[in-house]
Amino acid sequence: MNICSIRGAITIEENTKENIVINTETLLNEIIEKNNIKKENIINIVFSSTKDITKAYPAIATRNIGITDCAIMCLQEMYVEESLSMCIRVMITAYLDIEKQDLKHIYLKEAKKLRPDISLKNTGFAVAIDGPAGSGKSTVSKIISKELSFIYVDTGAMFRTITLYCLQNNINCNNQDEVNKELNNINISLNFENGIQQIYLNNENVTEKIRTQEIAKNASIIAQIPSVREKLLNIQREIANNNNVIMDGRDIGTNVLPNANVKIYLDADIDERAKRRCEELSTKGEKFEYDKVRQGIIDRDNADKNRKIAPLKKADDAITINTTSLSIYEVSDKIIKIIKENIK
Ligand code: DC
Repeated sequence: MNICSIRGAITIEENTKENIVINTETLLNEIIEKNNIKKENIINIVFSSTKDITKAYPAIATRNIGITDCAIMCLQEMYVEESLSMCIRVMITAYLDIEKQDLKHIYLKEAKKLRPDISLKNTGFAVAIDGPAGSGKSTVSKIISKELSFIYVDTGAMFRTITLYCLQNNINCNNQDEVNKELNNINISLNFENGIQQIYLNNENVTEKIRTQEIAKNASIIAQIPSVREKLLNIQREIANNNNVIMDGRDIGTNVLPNANVKIYLDADIDERAKRRCEELSTKGEKFEYDKVRQGIIDRDNADKNRKIAPLKKADDAITINTTSLSIYEVSDKIIKIIKENIK
């Protein structure tokens, strides 16, 4: 077991004892449930609340939900101009069976928004868009990023780039040891032109080269290798720390950016996704057979959903949009509306 600290915050509606207690209970219960904390394993809890909360100590809520024998402290925060009002923050320290990167920090109600006093310095606003192949992620992400002047980070392109290197150098994508040995020779860098990602493999721009069916197929095999995911995770988090991003992929909301400000899960029926992929291939003048394209997507879905680490999965707090019968612009408008509501 590790000693872990989990953070959380919630805003309240009224400065009354009932409202303070009920909201604190909601926050504590959600942190405990999402992180599988056993109450007897809690070491201590520190609360801090904004200066406008005066009618009760949030600590009362801990007793109500059956936490009775750990150290508890309640602090009052200093006033910071333009920061949230009526906000209760908490940090729970406990013995837990999970790794630090898997902790789920919980932000509820208005506390989901950025704290202007600390956030503007080195973290950006992050939108995570996950979903299976052909659900429309990259098309809508490009539209949204342009509209909001965010940068669009296509994480699938990173897995494809490592795959391209392996195919070019006769490295067997199914052999993890062979791929591991090569990772230090693979230098991936990104450049954003008008907000759109250009991806470089050892200084060569491979943005177009990685868009083949062969690379797509092998990328879902490469994506199962832990060392590959770790290498890319660091690059992905680094970009999100320093920019406002729309980041799309399979594990962005669940794993790469678990605290993203907005999480969207796009989905669509398999036939619609296969149709879209065929239209794309046909626009590029590539040959295809519908049944093979459809089966290829099913195989990739299976590989992406069933792999051991960071599988494709909707984050608990993601909003699902089924794009089967929606136009690209209908989907983009929906997401832009959600982002604007959260950005205020
Ligand atoms: O979105 P795409 O087709 O470009 O992704 C290529 C492969 O990369 C896909 O089969 C799964 C993998 N991938 C992943 O495992 N995690 C991500 N965040 C993005 C892509």
